[in-house]
Amino acid sequence: MIVPRILSTGLYVPPTVLTNDELATRIDTSDEWIFSHTGIHARRIASDDQATSDLAVAAGRQALERAGLDPLALDLVLLATSTPDYLGFPSTASIVQNSLGAVNAGAMDLTAACTGFVYALETARAFIAAGTSRYVLVIGAEVFSRILDWNDRNTCILFGDGAGAVLVGPADGPAFFAPSLLRSDGSGAASLLRPAGGTRQPVAQSPSDLAVRMDGRKVYSFAITVVKDIILEILEKNDLTLDQVDWVVPHQANVRIVASAAQRLGLPLEKFYLNMERYANTSGATIPLALSEMDQSGLLKRGQVVVTVGFGAGLTWGANLFRW
Ligand code: UT7
Repeated sequence: MIVPRILSTGLYVPPTVLTNDELATRIDTSDEWIFSHTGIHARRIASDDQATSDLAVAAGRQALERAGLDPLALDLVLLATSTPDYLGFPSTASIVQNSLGAVNAGAMDLTAACTGFVYALETARAFIAAGTSRYVLVIGAEVFSRILDWNDRNTCILFGDGAGAVLVGPADGPAFFAPSLLRSDGSGAASLLRPAGGTRQPVAQSPSDLAVRMDGRKVYSFAITVVKDIILEILEKNDLTLDQVDWVVPHQANVRIVASAAQRLGLPLEKFYLNMERYANTSGATIPLALSEMDQSGLLKRGQVVVTVGFGAGLTWGANLFRW
């Protein structure tokens, strides 16, 4: 069987920075409250003429260039997003595939909210291991700033815009990429959703019906349990122990969620890569953004054991496990 490996990374964040202090001039909040409750200081905001595909193309192109791979060699473009350019169709992945000149590739969006990248990376792994695809570009990209109610201090402080990408292909030496764990519990769907705009409620009664609506406490309680459990489960399934893990790359929603999981696992927080302070929660983009920063700054070294953990709307959660 072919063993897949992440061959390169790419990232793009819009240049505009929105700090907590700037937000506090518009709504009743403060940098002190936001940072102490979430670990977030700032987020990036896409310009008016940027859609999700623009961020995705920039990140995807960088991953291809860093690998020196011709876009013609791509078999598949997978885009994890909950903020597509268009509602339903065409897929944003098709727009990205065309912009990249990946004319031999299929393309599809994958929607599993903040767990989307974990699901998409597993899809790439499985397609390559099965011999269906050789090179798959997996991108997580979001423009959450367009689907927020900027008057709702419970949600608008949490999210930001950005994109990350990984190129997955056959390993040219010894490699390890475990089957991922992908989970869902749709009984929690109401905890985090956009009420209107879909077939359930096509017409919004008010503009805020089109925005993110969240029961923060419910999502928080769910997250602190599943993050710990899924890390232990994927390690156990692959005969690995916590002390053999070099990096945990968690979804960047709230540093308190990560710290709680770290404490319950008895792992030092330093093993968890954190960048929500600068970018906030970019949903499906947080994990590839983190992997790209770690790769490009030299933090990640070949052979290190990495676990990624995603969690979010659906409710969904999941984990990938591989050697870098
Ligand atoms: O990808 C998954 C995405 N979602 C998440 O990760 C969300 C998970 N949940 C959380 O991260 C946390 O629940 C929040 C950060 C959303 C909220 O933190 P909390 O410690 O659970 O605060 P809370 O909702 O219990 O609110 C405490 C107080 C309330 O005031 P009262 O009712 O006690 O007077 C809120 O009105 O804090 C108030 N509050 C704020 N104050 C200043 C809520 N948001 C703000 C704010 N600034 N932005």
